[in-house]
Amino acid sequence: MQVKDKVVMITGAARGIGKNAARMFLANGAKIAVCDVNEAQLQEVAKDLNPTGTLPLLTLTANVTDRTSMNQAVKTVTEKWGRVDVLINNAGITRDGLLAKMAESDFDKVIDVNLKGVFNCTQAVLPAMTAQGKGSIINTSSIVGVYGNVGQTNYAAAKAGLIGMTKTWAKELGRKGITVNAVAPGFTMTEMLATVPEKILDAIKEKTPLKRLGSPDDIGNAYLFLASDAATFVTGQVLGVDGGLVI
Ligand code: NAI
Repeated sequence: MQVKDKVVMITGAARGIGKNAARMFLANGAKIAVCDVNEAQLQEVAKDLNPTGTLPLLTLTANVTDRTSMNQAVKTVTEKWGRVDVLINNAGITRDGLLAKMAESDFDKVIDVNLKGVFNCTQAVLPAMTAQGKGSIINTSSIVGVYGNVGQTNYAAAKAGLIGMTKTWAKELGRKGITVNAVAPGFTMTEMLATVPEKILDAIKEKTPLKRLGSPDDIGNAYLFLASDAATFVTGQVLGVDGGLVI
């Protein structure tokens, strides 16, 4: 994929899909800023992905819910590399519970990270992308944002909200040369699924036409495509990467 020399910021990339995507972008010649709230795990990212310290990898401790910290992260990236070509809004959390029992604080927390965090980060990169007249924003939604899921009122609301923001920003920012798309992963093998019982995962596999769960590479490949020069006429789309689970 044509992402060589692009400056790519990935939020929530200290583990899981984001960390693996950072590895894939580095392998394709991009310059990567990994932003995460988990400082200890960020140090592991630097060790794992850049053992010799020679690759273009920045690890930045930043919380997507804190606008000052995100603005600072963007400043660090533009001071180092002069631009931001791609923002992947990948950070996300779950706080599951049935509607009847969901604590208000769990609703607020998920909306704050998964929805408002994306608003914060996108506003933070906008001045740089506008000045460049070019950029790609990729929002990580979910199959749950399109179809809903029992026990995930907060998560589904945030991930559906992301799709609304994606389409709105595609309309607003197209004239500035900025594309905005969403990826909607199906159930993907990361620590996020650690609390989902094996029985349920087996049932999901069974219902999926491709008869398996997603891998971080599956989602990373979608990010690579949308970030690449192959996707410069693609905007406002929601790319499902779910093995056909929803058809
Ligand atoms: P994960 O839980 O393995 O990793 C999420 C990362 O986000 C962690 O490193 C965490 O420290 C970071 N993070 C959490 N809150 C943050 C904050 N306030 N500021 C900065 N970073 C923060 O999750 P996974 O599975 O890698 O998911 C990545 C994205 O894909 C998330 O947006 C998730 O909702 C989405 N997704 C995942 C699916 C799955 O089955 N794993 C399915 C559909 C969507």
